Amino acid sequence: MNRPIGGYLNVSGEMKMNERDVRADFPLLERYRELAYLDNAATTQKPQCVLDAVNEYYLGENSNPMRGLYDLSVKATQAYENARESVRDLIGAASCREIIFTRNATESLNLAASCLGRAIVNEGDEILITVSEHHSDLIPWQTAARERGAKLKYLECTAEGEYTVGALKAALSPRTKIFAFAAVSNVFGRANPVAEFAEVCHSNGTIVVCDGAQSVPHMKTDVGALGVDFLAFSGHKMYAPMGIGVLYGREELLEQLPPFLTGGEMIEYVTRDAATFAELPHRFEAGTVNAGGAVGLDAAIKYIRSVGIENIEKRERELTRYAFDRISGIPHVSIIGSPDPDDHHGIITFTVEGVHPHDIAALMDRDNIAVRAGHHCAQPLHQFLGVASTARMSLAFYNTEAEIDRFAESLSGLRRRMGYGE
Ligand code: ALA
Repeated sequence: MNRPIGGYLNVSGEMKMNERDVRADFPLLERYRELAYLDNAATTQKPQCVLDAVNEYYLGENSNPMRGLYDLSVKATQAYENARESVRDLIGAASCREIIFTRNATESLNLAASCLGRAIVNEGDEILITVSEHHSDLIPWQTAARERGAKLKYLECTAEGEYTVGALKAALSPRTKIFAFAAVSNVFGRANPVAEFAEVCHSNGTIVVCDGAQSVPHMKTDVGALGVDFLAFSGHKMYAPMGIGVLYGREELLEQLPPFLTGGEMIEYVTRDAATFAELPHRFEAGTVNAGGAVGLDAAIKYIRSVGIENIEKRERELTRYAFDRISGIPHVSIIGSPDPDDHHGIITFTVEGVHPHDIAALMDRDNIAVRAGHHCAQPLHQFLGVASTARMSLAFYNTEAEIDRFAESLSGLRRRMGYGE
């Protein structure tokens, strides 16, 4: 990545967020200039610097990290461990021993649920999650609860997607071993008061597992300030390649957990009948790792730094307000969740009366607009909302007002195209 740090800032420190400056970094957006890509909560596009870094790794450093004693393997190991340090720094973790590379947030949450389940959950205990959790932060806990004879309990939200500290306090019991929740819901787009939740949980002796898939790419994250015990997130939602994710865990807790996957490189010593396990974090990284993905994540983090996470957050807030404003006046369209745009963090989920969300997405596709439709891997939330499915537009800082205008225009015409008179 050759762009100098701060290259997006003008003399007064404002971000130069015109289309040319930002979008030129993303080859796919350049290739499909007519496409309004509004599915960023599903995955983001990748900047050239990330593609170059991955390419360069495979051209000049590829070998199996941590195994070879030859120069190329040392280079691969260094590249992989540099990426770990980048992640540590990004989220303010105390040590690289607390950063475990996984495939994605789903695998991170499976790791947390499986290992915590075996380590601390016993018959009659409770695991608490929210009703709006993504299935990746729901099924692993369902499974852990079933396997351990524990009860899975749900924290209910308001129709506006709010979870209050009061409701959390009421839901916790002396048997609540774990509270798992998303920092930002992938349907409501609403942020939870993570630090307050963590404080309440800790005073109850409850471990806090936070799904940061929809928050880490969009806002400053400091695990120390948030006070979470575990934080899961994916690289592909923050401009890195698919196939690389992270689980942060507090060192003293990780030390107490049994292994997740077993096999090569996670061991210390193996006999026919038993094994001892490697130090953190390698104990949780069995098998050949995704070094190319980690290098891509490292480049993505450097890219985010060069833009500035505060600038990303500010620009996404502006775009969300703009989109909210454009959508709000359209007849027969209902926005899911809070009426305050600032509660939406780049995600606006909606329905159109009389139009199935799959038809919304298909018709918008004809207009070269990419949105997601379905249950967004949050079926219990849709059951709570009383709808089978919804449509969702989700923004990244590289989106533009012009794309949102096109989206709003398409949205306004959907009912007419489906044969309604208005
Ligand atoms: N978790 C991603 C989403 O919400 C795939 O779209």
